[in-house]
Amino acid sequence: INLLLRYGFDAILWDISEEAIQKGIAAIRKTFAYPIKKGSMTEEGLAKLMQEHLKTTTSLEDLKGADLVIEAVLENMKIKQDIWKKLEGICRPDAVFGTNTSALPITELASVLTDPGRMIGLHFFNPAERMQLLEIICGKRTSDQTLSSSVAFGRAIRKVPIVVNDGPGFYVSRQLGALMGGSSLLLEEGVDPAKVEQAFMDFGLPMGPATLSDLTGIDINYHVGKTFEKAFGKRWEMSPLMELVYQTGFYGRKTKAGWFDYSEEKPVPNPKMAAVVQKYLQEKGVKPKEMTEKEIVDRMLVRAINEAAYMIQEGICDRPQDMDLAMIYGTGFPPYRGGILRYADAWGIKNVYDGLVKLEKEYGERFKPCSLLKGMAEKGQTFYKY
Ligand SMILES: NC(=O)c1ccc[n+]([C@@H]2O[C@H](COP(=O)([O-])OP(=O)(O)OC[C@H]3O[C@@H](n4cnc5c(N)ncnc54)[C@H](O)[C@@H]3O)[C@@H](O)[C@H]2O)c1
Repeated sequence: INLLLRYGFDAILWDISEEAIQKGIAAIRKTFAYPIKKGSMTEEGLAKLMQEHLKTTTSLEDLKGADLVIEAVLENMKIKQDIWKKLEGICRPDAVFGTNTSALPITELASVLTDPGRMIGLHFFNPAERMQLLEIICGKRTSDQTLSSSVAFGRAIRKVPIVVNDGPGFYVSRQLGALMGGSSLLLEEGVDPAKVEQAFMDFGLPMGPATLSDLTGIDINYHVGKTFEKAFGKRWEMSPLMELVYQTGFYGRKTKAGWFDYSEEKPVPNPKMAAVVQKYLQEKGVKPKEMTEKEIVDRMLVRAINEAAYMIQEGICDRPQDMDLAMIYGTGFPPYRGGILRYADAWGIKNVYDGLVKLEKEYGERFKPCSLLKGMAEKGQTFYKY
């Protein structure tokens, strides 16, 4: 809503109850706190903007004149499908239906519609008023018209729109999962978690895997990880240590403790979580393992690059520049590294492939190189073609 109001659209906020709407209004106001504090906007200016361009309602009927509907209700297939079915009977036939789901398949969501061509994924990143990326996801039947309207809309609200096809985690969540998820394997081998965090920060990422996991929620990551395991089998097998971590009930910031303890002003490592890791390592007879920061980051990156190649091979993504922009604008991947694929090209695809082969021998399928990458290594190709 912040973006719609800022960039000249009229908006209607629908929610299930007046109480939910009031919560929504308070959340919208909060998104304008920064410009008000900085003096680029006034309280009166915001009040006027909201009064003139924002309506609220608990009746879906009021959306009948909308050009675009962006749905962001609970992450539940049935709830979302029920709402979309109702909206199809209310909205104009040319209205675009955008869903902000983080992971539900767009094709399945759209399957309840008479015209599935009008549905598309519009995946915003938190906080939506500040993060630059808009990941646009085409379902199997999304029409060209729906896609072009969505890209135009993304540009109108000053986002960097990138277009991908439907698949588990779409592009960004799967790419980030591949980059960060491998850290659990390092912990299982006895590498110090603090060292892993530091290695990522020194590489230029805004935070390490434990900090990120606490921010998004260890429970959310666990469920997303399970989805990937179901879709991709052994290559994404959940580590036994992660099962134990999930069972602690420490889910991160929202429960005031995860990998870190947030009860004081400055987060400190959570001793109870450290004890879970220690107990696991003792039971398995694992000794502490020394790795350099470069070894840690290289291990994470070869897996991430391999997953990127799988996504190109599967037709989820087609343009390396979009993939790189998505990681930079959606996750804070260091811009001066150029993105996952630009980095891979500079590193040398043969080096990446050889690294994977070695790791596959040692650790199994998790590092199984994608055949696209193998072919590229043999032919001396790069992701970016000039
Ligand atoms: N939180 C994020 O960082 C993030 C990022 C990208 C996408 N998303 C997606 O946005 C959607 C909403 O996530 P959220 O984190 O804002 O959740 P939330 O729980 O904060 O909000 C859910 C909204 O759904 C409404 N709702 C509750 N029960 C409902 C029902 N039975 N029918 C219709 N509406 C109902 C609530 O009133 C509320 O407005 C999800 O699909 C989520 O995957 C979230």
